[in-house]
Amino acid sequence: MATRMGPLLLLTCLSYRAGPPAVHVKAAAAPGRGGTLTPASRRPVILHPFRRMVAMKGRVFTEFFAHVEACHGADMVDDIIEAARLPHHGAYTSTGSYPFQEMVSLVTALTEATGQPLPVVLEAFGTHCFESWVGYAPQYFATSRSLFDVLEGIDQFHETEVRKLYPDAELPSFVPERRDGRTLVLGYRSCKPLAPLALGVIRGAAAHLSQPVALRCEPAEDARGPYTRIHVELLRPAG
Ligand code: HEM
Repeated sequence: MATRMGPLLLLTCLSYRAGPPAVHVKAAAAPGRGGTLTPASRRPVILHPFRRMVAMKGRVFTEFFAHVEACHGADMVDDIIEAARLPHHGAYTSTGSYPFQEMVSLVTALTEATGQPLPVVLEAFGTHCFESWVGYAPQYFATSRSLFDVLEGIDQFHETEVRKLYPDAELPSFVPERRDGRTLVLGYRSCKPLAPLALGVIRGAAAHLSQPVALRCEPAEDARGPYTRIHVELLRPAG
């Protein structure tokens, strides 16, 4: 997320379709607040001609609003949508794809409004995502499973279960590099710089499985380019 793409997104227009009509996020994130249905705007997204658009599923945006509302209240959701100057005023559908830059703008607006550092905001959001998403696959996250087995299989989980719901999602990859009884090292690669979010998701999984962990990241590089190495250390020996 450290990469601010804003100044680069200027030179050309690519037509961009957000999918079916959008549910206004206020209706989705704040039931009972009398949210309205607002159609998504079809305004083009302005992109740098040589930069592929990095997209994110609408589901992640609606989760983000639900998380912000739970932590900071519904007015904060309205405030960050306004501050982020989104082309469609915060209307997202779960299965639509939207420019990642919009998430950058929203998260930046939240850090500015709350004074919380970016990694803190992203990690808390990651834990929220896990807690919300675990219901999709309770058997995969059965509490009898070892956290390391779950994490070693996360690419396969994304590519099978998540792909069924979101066939065109741009998903990260987590490649196991080393494992012993106490430590698992995962190589995290993504077109989005969201390592702190990954730490939050892993923390959520660890809490769900009652296997507390210490987490640490380090930059790494191989022939395929730079990536992030995530060290997961069990605080209690595996039972
Ligand atoms: C321990 C388990 C999991 C980990 C570590 C994990 C990690 C992540 C991370 C870090 C991202 C952010 C995008 C990126 O880095 O490129 C992501 C995206 C995503 N994950 Fe997972 N995830 C896990 C479980 C799940 C589950 C249970 C679901 C169930 C639906 C899920 C669905 C998704 C979806 C839909 C995206 C959005 C991709 C996008 O549009 O950018 N993940 N995951």
